[in-house]
Amino acid sequence: MRADLLGLALAWVSSASAAPPSAPVAPPPPPPVPVEEGIAAFRAVASVLQSPRCQNCHPAGNAPLQTDASVPHSMGITRDSPRVGLDCATCHREVGLGLPLVPPANPQWHLPPAVQVFEGRTPAELCAQLKDPAQTGGRDLAALQEHVAGDPLVLYGWDPGGGRSVPPLSHATFVARFRTWVEAGAPCPSP
Ligand code: HEC
Ligand code: HEC
Repeated sequence: MRADLLGLALAWVSSASAAPPSAPVAPPPPPPVPVEEGIAAFRAVASVLQSPRCQNCHPAGNAPLQTDASVPHSMGITRDSPRVGLDCATCHREVGLGLPLVPPANPQWHLPPAVQVFEGRTPAELCAQLKDPAQTGGRDLAALQEHVAGDPLVLYGWDPGGGRSVPPLSHATFVARFRTWVEAGAPCPSP
């Protein structure tokens, strides 16, 4: 039985390779995005992730950060604050006043899981982490593309109010660079 199958397979392979030269040739696939272009696109993505508006909520330590200098959050706020009864939304309410030193407003304001660190990581580390669903809350690259395109906490970065700086790329350019990186096969820079 196995020998029969093998014989069939060999016959198929040799008949395929013996196709007449006049057989129509499929057009070559469009060139993929070059790896170098994908790596350059990821470096641009990383520059946004590590801008204050993003890394202040994706800190390496136990406390969120604040201001453009990314200093630890005032008033001793940490990851543990909500657990001991002080919700972020106590101060980060639905409607902000748009003034400096006033908490940014967003009803969903909270910290990501402790593995989702942007502060102090190299672009290579950030790249590896975004490709590991164990560290992205189960998101694959397609889901991450949706997240960076439309999540309200991501969009906050471009409308922070209070005279806060915005990330180095426009939101549209950030989303486009993210897509270029994915289309290039999500290549990572070397450290
Ligand atoms: C108020 C805090 C806050 C801010 C500000 C914020 N994030 Fe997040 N971010 C979160 C939370 C919470 C999650 C987890 C959401 C979930 O899993 O549903 C997250 C998850 C993510 C993820 C997917 C998971 C991963 O691997 O990290 C990406 C990508 C991301 N954020 C990018 C950004 C970018 C880009 C900015 C700035 C433009 C930003 N975030 C600003 C809170 C924030
Ligand atoms: C007691 C009030 C209060 C609580 C509770 C609070 N915050 Fe804040 N938060 C503020 C104030 C005020 C600011 C503005 C400080 C500034 O920008 O200089 C701020 C700013 C921030 C910023 C900086 C935003 C940026 O774009 O730079 C982050 C991040 C942040 N808070 C995260 C949190 C998280 C996460 C929690 C819950 C774990 C939380 N905060 C709980 C008052 C609070």
